[in-house]
Amino acid sequence: MMKTYRTIAAAASVMLSAAFFNASADEGMWLPALISERIGDMQEKGFRLEAEDIYSINRASLKDAVVLFGRGCTGELISAEGLLLTNHHCGYAQIQKHSSVEHDYLKDGFWAMSRSEELPNEGLTVSFLDRMEDVTDAVLAGYSEGMDEMQRDSIVKANSKILIDKAVSEGKGLEADVEALYYGNQYFLFVYRVFRDIRLVGAPPSSIGKFGGDTDNWMWPRHTGDFSIFRIYADKDNNPAEYSESNVPYTPRKYFRISLKGVKEGDFTFVYGYPGSTREYILSEGVRYISEISDPHKIGLRSLRLDIQDRYMSQSQAVRIQYSSKNAGVANSWKKWQGEMRGIRKMDTVEKKREYEKRFEAWAAGTEYEGITDRLDSLYRLLEPYSYAADYYNETARTVELSRFATGYADILHGAMLSARDTAVDKAAMELERLAEAFYKDYFLPIDKESFIAVMDRFDRNVPAGFKPEYFVRNMSRYGTAEIWADSLFGNSVFADSSALAGIVTAAGETGTGADITVLTDDPAVEFGRAFDEWYREDILPVRRRLSREITLLYRDYMKGQMEFEPGKEFYPDANLTLRVAYGSVRGYSPADGTYYLPSSTIEGIMQKDNPEIFDYDVPERLREIYRTKDYGRWGISGADGGETVPVCFIATNHTSGGNSGSPVINADGDLIGINFDRVWEGTMSDIVFDPDLCRNIALDIRYVLFVIDKVAGASHLIDEMSFSE
Ligand code: ARG
Ligand code: GLU
Repeated sequence: MMKTYRTIAAAASVMLSAAFFNASADEGMWLPALISERIGDMQEKGFRLEAEDIYSINRASLKDAVVLFGRGCTGELISAEGLLLTNHHCGYAQIQKHSSVEHDYLKDGFWAMSRSEELPNEGLTVSFLDRMEDVTDAVLAGYSEGMDEMQRDSIVKANSKILIDKAVSEGKGLEADVEALYYGNQYFLFVYRVFRDIRLVGAPPSSIGKFGGDTDNWMWPRHTGDFSIFRIYADKDNNPAEYSESNVPYTPRKYFRISLKGVKEGDFTFVYGYPGSTREYILSEGVRYISEISDPHKIGLRSLRLDIQDRYMSQSQAVRIQYSSKNAGVANSWKKWQGEMRGIRKMDTVEKKREYEKRFEAWAAGTEYEGITDRLDSLYRLLEPYSYAADYYNETARTVELSRFATGYADILHGAMLSARDTAVDKAAMELERLAEAFYKDYFLPIDKESFIAVMDRFDRNVPAGFKPEYFVRNMSRYGTAEIWADSLFGNSVFADSSALAGIVTAAGETGTGADITVLTDDPAVEFGRAFDEWYREDILPVRRRLSREITLLYRDYMKGQMEFEPGKEFYPDANLTLRVAYGSVRGYSPADGTYYLPSSTIEGIMQKDNPEIFDYDVPERLREIYRTKDYGRWGISGADGGETVPVCFIATNHTSGGNSGSPVINADGDLIGINFDRVWEGTMSDIVFDPDLCRNIALDIRYVLFVIDKVAGASHLIDEMSFSE
């Protein structure tokens, strides 16, 4: 009975969403400073606050509680004492750095039970946006029609520098950037306050924070507790400062109140964060290259490597540990590209853009825009073999682990040999030792060698004759097959054997750095890396750069043309790691005929996946125990079957991208309901084209975060710092 009802409700909501929203509903990553242009629409969809509550330069607003975490994630403030939330995968490097065999914080989690236990992280920054402003006129001051691009460029650079210098001189810890939006039709100044004393406060064990691992990555239903907690420290005047024991917790201008009211299908949601890069306005030909050439080839090459890794990893526990993080990295984009390629094809984006371009050209006849799409098209055709060669270079030669390590090693060695100073040599020696240690710890030669054979063989078959490095051609004809070449390269490289390498280095050290070292710099693995790098740098990159620049310049006009062609359309600038607002609603989706996914998941799903034999699904004992005794405390809610459960994740229609990891997901009252951490793979084409039926961001329900902090970690003192709306 229950089931029938749910299916019908689901079907109804699909119909509703199709009828109610037009094609572009929920699409868009809007500039917070211009949010007054969207606020009417947001309010119509349920938002209950004003534009000034989202972004204001006159008073505290939500923007003061959102930060750029490091250089590629987002975070949010959740207490008056500088407590900050982001994803587990965003804090991963820091958690890892503090881990050792005795204290494995990745495995066991970490919780500072007092301020003095919070761990500093050298190099980690947190940036608050102080303000953003349209500086187009100032940036283009002195430019006039008829000047060439070089002149325009130097005017833009010089004016930007003046603006930046002035902005940063206004206070402590300020940094600023001038960013081109709409391919240089508009320029914005972004001023940030950058904090440098950021301490790790808490992280769940990976069996919660990375639960589901790469098996579930980009997937729904999801049960990952992907969060970690940091605290921002400031000097005694609340200003940014380098790490110091005497620093104190930062008092933010604004922090999020946390909603305990829960989420349900249809609820308004808004994601506030730093999406990295999107390309929504490119030519059909650019999209065709991505979906028909680049993605399929890159996916194919990575499949080869993943198959090899998976085979060895399933045979040995040691290899599984060595390659788990590498495997995750390779699989992450591999999965994303599959969704992107399929999504673009399903949306028929190439054909639709071609039709659009025809209509555009008909309109543009006789204007300054006439013929622009043809010119772009020809440039893309010239660029294609170079993009293709670059894709192959990146996914083949650059993935040979031994050669990457050997080349990096030889570079440092070479640098040290050139320098006569003993201190430089000593420093290099230490660096090399660290490099070697880190490399060999996680290196399994059979995987690397088999991958070499597989990708080099593909390179040979798929890259056209004129685009292969001379070095490659010579070696393939010398050895006949990639296999025999690999035997020779891996057989003769000193780097293939850690003790052989150590022996040579020690011997060289004893005789003084000199002659012996040439066996390292002339090593076949180094030669391989250098030959490919040089070919790419000299034969591919310059042409690629020149054509890409010409394309970008034409896009400036094409973008302007598109805006004039469709004056009624609401444009938003492509993502460029600047602060954006994306709003939508909690909503399930139907990825295939006969299937509908509900928008939220619960602890029941964690237990359904529980399997101690499968690393990704090995639920920690403490969580099992809580589940057995239903010891949910104030975090329990009533589940679908009437019993008590705990919410875990939910999906919504917010237009997000890489970089939005860790972003606050906010409800109609401006309260925090979740932390963004992923998208569903069926919707990853949203970087190029957004489909309201399929594009969903994935968020961690804030109530699961609180449950883990309280019940699993026993760190209720952190919860005492927060404020709630119930
Ligand atoms: N897909 C998410 C992103 O692109 C999460 C990646 C980290 N998680 C993982 N299982 N590899 O960043
Ligand atoms: N996991 C991504 C990140 O780290 C967010 C997912 C996406 O690409 O939307 O930014």
